Amino acid sequence: MKIDILSLFPQMYNGFLSESIIKRAQEKNIVEINIHNIRDYSSDPHKKVDDYPIGGGSGMVLMPQPIFDAVEALKTSDSCVILLTPQGKTYNQHIAYDLANKKHLILICGHYEGFDERIRTLADVEISIGDYVLTGGEIPSMIITDSVVRLLDGVIDRESHINDSFNNNLLDYPVYTKPNNFRGMEVPEVLLSGNHKKIDEFRKEQAINKTKERRPDLLEKS
Ligand code: ADE
Repeated sequence: MKIDILSLFPQMYNGFLSESIIKRAQEKNIVEINIHNIRDYSSDPHKKVDDYPIGGGSGMVLMPQPIFDAVEALKTSDSCVILLTPQGKTYNQHIAYDLANKKHLILICGHYEGFDERIRTLADVEISIGDYVLTGGEIPSMIITDSVVRLLDGVIDRESHINDSFNNNLLDYPVYTKPNNFRGMEVPEVLLSGNHKKIDEFRKEQAINKTKERRPDLLEKS
């Protein structure tokens, strides 16, 4: 998979791309991630990317020209163009699975007060990561990249994401490691039994109970 991210703040991605699972996925050539500075696509002699809102109002608005030129330079028939905005559809694990099947994602990060409305015409989908407003689309683009890349074949154990929270509309079951007794808190006996059928039943029951208690809305969906 290839992921192209258009941002005004490419430095924000340094740590994200050079650590842990995302780093390894790139090294194994499972994903190629490129960060493009929107400013590099500005045709303005001063590399201007924003201007005042026509009709008045506060803040600056991203101009369409640099974003249109960037998307047109990167887009192919395999591309899915995603605009990050609090007005988009709310991101979830189902959308992550859907995006993990695409060959090429182009993520457009808005910034400042907003972007020119005509930029929306470039997007196949507009995504919000939740009902709150961030200073820009950079963190949302990292969230989408992270959640999609971990689903690609060869990135992490298949087992690990089959059991993820939200698959089958259930939260993940609790897991434990050594020691068996930590400050008086015991690992449930059944997990030490070696009986895998019983362990599976226990985990399923725990996942259902946890979901009932914390996210009954998920159970209603299933
Ligand atoms: N840009 C600013 N806030 C955002 C949000 N919640 N989701 C996606 N992009 C955003």
